[in-house]
Amino acid sequence: MKKVMLVFGTRPEAIKMCPLVKEFQKRADEFETIVCVTGQHREMLDQVLKIFEVTPDIDLNIMKQGQDLTDVTVRILNGMRDVFKECRPDVVLVHGDTTTSTAAALAAFYAQIPVGHVEAGLRTHNIYSPWPEEMNRQVTGRIAAYNFAPTPLSEKNLIEEKAMGKIYVTGNTVIDALHLVVNKLKEDAVLAEEQDAILLNAGYDVTRLADGKKLVLITGHRRENFGEGFIRMVTAMKDLSEKYPEVDFVYPMHLNPNVRKPIHEVFGEDLTRPNFFFIEPLQYLEFVHLMSKSTIVLTDSGGIQEEAPGLGKPVLVMRDTTERPEALDAGTVKLVGTDYDKIVTEVSCLLDDAAYYDTMSKAVNPYGDGLACGRIVNVLR
Ligand code: UD1
Ligand code: UDP
Repeated sequence: MKKVMLVFGTRPEAIKMCPLVKEFQKRADEFETIVCVTGQHREMLDQVLKIFEVTPDIDLNIMKQGQDLTDVTVRILNGMRDVFKECRPDVVLVHGDTTTSTAAALAAFYAQIPVGHVEAGLRTHNIYSPWPEEMNRQVTGRIAAYNFAPTPLSEKNLIEEKAMGKIYVTGNTVIDALHLVVNKLKEDAVLAEEQDAILLNAGYDVTRLADGKKLVLITGHRRENFGEGFIRMVTAMKDLSEKYPEVDFVYPMHLNPNVRKPIHEVFGEDLTRPNFFFIEPLQYLEFVHLMSKSTIVLTDSGGIQEEAPGLGKPVLVMRDTTERPEALDAGTVKLVGTDYDKIVTEVSCLLDDAAYYDTMSKAVNPYGDGLACGRIVNVLR
């Protein structure tokens, strides 16, 4: 029996790794599946574990307020060293480009345990954008024995870098997660209604959208945007909400204090507005539900750039570069950076010009077919 350990620690890694955990658990005759979470995120990680009903076997619980990247890296390296002393899996699977991913891969390398990199080969080729993620994934890519590339383009990036591990194009497991949730919501009208109630409780009444009202859904958290970049982004959002009083703006705020500070600097202490709703981070199910009801998504997130095109939602990305150019090429995603004018102009064009909106709202899915987890498990069989 092969022992496989999946290590993750943040919200997006959990969303993209939980369906893979489930896929390994289906093969209990062939694999012993060990789930190790670092707890780089706490509340936002636990929300996802709950939805997917995944119980970690090991939890390093490393999150502390105000940690910098070095603190997080050191705590994960120490924690994983001790885990590998107790338990030697045949392969360690890490995901994407977080500190959890790279530190866990490095700890596995020091213990001479082969690493599989899920969502391998995404590149901007600019180590400061996104920061520190571009370097994180390049380092993990050097260590990996197995690279699970989501698209042919990510495979090409790895080939060009002469990656030492084997490369398999599998699709992105985020589409597996998205299909799971979308199908659940489609098949269960009561569950969908429950999401409306949860959203109402969270501070947004979706029945406001019944008369064709438009919704701009916003998220933001990138480290390289902290400070001035965030101030420009939030100022643009505020001005847009005043220019379009008939449109709703909903912003589930990331828990990082660096994200909340500029919001208060621009909006003041009291965030209550007639058409702008600042709410706590949503659980995955209700977030997907709300995304499916939105008109435009304005974000600097990585995962949302992959999900929203699948739902036919135009995405404006508040970054200067993206490691996910497939949706840019398909025309459903556009980069607006943290440039005030670009954000205001692009949101306005999508709200005002129906023909322009239609060109960006095609449902395309360059990131997978929902079967990525099965392919990864098959490779490791
Ligand atoms: C991390 C990842 C980033 C990923 C993002 C997804 C790194 C360097 N960054 O960034 O690649 O895109 O997660 O969201 O790995 N916090 C809480 N509770 C939570 C989560 C966060 O209170 O559940 C607060 C804490 O104060 C924490 C801070 O947010 O110290 C920052 O968390 P951290 O994981 O360091 O960075 P993120 O910005 O979340
Ligand atoms: N998401 C969520 N609740 C929210 C905001 C986002 O469940 O309130 C999901 C979203 O659908 C996507 C993932 O979280 O799958 C993206 O996480 P994030 O933007 O924090 O990280 P990134 O993808 O940029 O690494």
